Amino acid sequence: MSILNILRYPDPRLHKIAKSVTVFDERLKKLAADMAETMYDAPGVGLAAPQVDVHEQLVVIDTSETNDDLLILINPEIIWSSPERKMYDEGCLSVPGIYDGVERAAEVKVRALDIEGKSFELHVDGLLAVCVQHEMDHLIGKVFVEYLSPLKRNRIKTKMLKEERTEQYNKQRGRR
Ligand code: NI
Repeated sequence: MSILNILRYPDPRLHKIAKSVTVFDERLKKLAADMAETMYDAPGVGLAAPQVDVHEQLVVIDTSETNDDLLILINPEIIWSSPERKMYDEGCLSVPGIYDGVERAAEVKVRALDIEGKSFELHVDGLLAVCVQHEMDHLIGKVFVEYLSPLKRNRIKTKMLKEERTEQYNKQRGRR
């Protein structure tokens, strides 16, 4: 397995629309395993394929404290959302260090395929419901900061670009 490079906001590749998965082979299993390893290593509770520059409908999630409850969703669709909504402070591995409130459906029902291509349904609430909706947004090229005000989003963009420049500069200095 290997740790994959996670794209950082505002990288335009984060806004590409992911394609459906049609082939359930060893390549897909390796991708899911690498994504899980990358998520646990970060550490994070979810990772979508577009975040590692693979524009396919695959997400990995694990909201357990013990990192032993891996959920893989392929070609997921929301088939029901609760009218009740909840606000939750979200973060994202593509927007490191930023947390802000996003309002989403408190419960959702999802239909997805597993790693073998078998269909299943899932009814989730709490943190898992937040996570499923957040990760599914990545598949349509949406990052959670897009729910925030333009003012906040621009501040985040500036901060991310500044951090990236500082890192590049430090890398260059390190090489000399
Ligand atoms: Ni995210």
